[in-house]
Amino acid sequence: MLDYHRLGELPAKHHITFRQQEKLLMEQCVTREGFDGPYSILYFRIPPTDETSVEPRQLPGFCPVSPLERQPLHRRHIRTQESKHEGDFITGRKTLMMNSDVQIGLCKPQQPTAEFFSNADGDECWFAYEGGGVLESLYGLLPYRKHDYLIIPKATPYRLHPEGGKGTFLIFEGRGFIDIPKQFRNKRGQLTMDAPFCHRDFRRPSELLKYDAASHGQAPFRHVVKKNDSLTVHLFKHWPWELAGWDGYTYPVAFNIMDYQPKTGQIHLPPTYHITFAGNDFIICSFVPRKVDYYERNGQKAIPCPYGHASVDCDEILYYVEGNFTSRRGIESQSISLHPAGVPHGPHPGTYEKSIGHDRTNELAVMCDTFKPLLLTAAAARLEDSDYHTTWVQTESAVHQ
Ligand SMILES: [Fe+2]
Repeated sequence: MLDYHRLGELPAKHHITFRQQEKLLMEQCVTREGFDGPYSILYFRIPPTDETSVEPRQLPGFCPVSPLERQPLHRRHIRTQESKHEGDFITGRKTLMMNSDVQIGLCKPQQPTAEFFSNADGDECWFAYEGGGVLESLYGLLPYRKHDYLIIPKATPYRLHPEGGKGTFLIFEGRGFIDIPKQFRNKRGQLTMDAPFCHRDFRRPSELLKYDAASHGQAPFRHVVKKNDSLTVHLFKHWPWELAGWDGYTYPVAFNIMDYQPKTGQIHLPPTYHITFAGNDFIICSFVPRKVDYYERNGQKAIPCPYGHASVDCDEILYYVEGNFTSRRGIESQSISLHPAGVPHGPHPGTYEKSIGHDRTNELAVMCDTFKPLLLTAAAARLEDSDYHTTWVQTESAVHQ
C-alpha cells in the first residue's frame, strides 16, 4: 500500500465499457476492508472466474500446520542453515513459528513450478536470503534480487521464479496488512522526510504478464489458494493472468534491505528504531551495517552492544543474514533466535564488554517482534539447537571476577 501505480491500458473512468478487439473486458475491483480500504481495478481478457474444477490439497508442515503441544519456556536457536532445498516455492514452504497474528516460515525451493499461489489469509513478506529472480503476479513482472523484501498483498495470485529454480527465503505471513509503519507517512500519505526509506527505494511491477507455454505449461492451469489455513487448487481451461491493464494502491513491491537508512544514537537506541514494516501486533525490523553509538565523556563510553533486557510483552526473533553477530556466540548465517517474553535475554558473556570502543557494525539481520507468544512447530523442533538456552552460563571464575 505504497502509492498510486498503473500499468497497461485503462478506460477513462471506473466501471465503464472497455473493449479490446470488440470484446468487452471484465473489470475486477480488488478491495480491502470491505470497500473502504485501498483498492486496485484490473481489466481481464479472460474472466478469472471460469474454473473448471476445484480440488483440496494438503502440504503437511505448511497447510495444515499446528504448534507442538509441549513448549517449555526458554531461549531458542533454530538452525535453518541445516534445512535442505526441496520442492518449489509452494511445496517447499515450512512454517516454523506461529501465533494468531503471524506465521513465520522458511522456503528453500530447488525447482520452478507452473502453479500460481495466493494467500487469502493475509499479506506476505518474503525476504530473499540469497539469489534473485522474478516475482510474477497478476500485477505484472517484478524482478527481485538478493536481500530484497517482497511484500505481496492478500489474495494476490503469484508465482516466484528464482533464477535456476533455487532460492532461500524467510517468510512472514500476516493475518491482515503488512504495511509501511504509519509514523513514516505524513497527513497526505507521502513518506516523511525522516522515514528510513523513500518512495524511490520501492520497486513496483514493471511489465504485465503474458502467457508463455514453455514457462506456464498447458491447461489445466493450476492456482493454489490458501484460506483458513487450508489449500484448494482451482483449475482453469484458459490461462487467467493476462490483463489489459490495472491501476490502484494494492500491488506487490520489492525493497532491498541495504536501502534501509538506519539511525544511530549517542547512546544505544531500542530495536524499534529499526522498524521497517508493521503488521497486526507484530513488526519487522532491519539491522543493517551502520555506525554505532558514540557517547564519550569523562572517561565513560557508550556500549554499542545491545543491553540485556526483558521485553515482558513481546517475543523477539532474529534471522541472521551476514556480518559479525557481536552479541551472540554459536549463531551463524541463517540462524534464527527466538527470545520469548517471560525470561530475560541479552548479549552473551564477554561480547558486551568487547563491543566498547567499536565505531561500526557490519551485521545484517531481520528481526520480528510479536505481542502474542510464538509457538514452535515440528519443523522448527527438528532444526533446534537444544543447548542454546544454557550458553549464557559463565564459569565460576568469570562470575567472581
Ligand atoms: Fe532483544
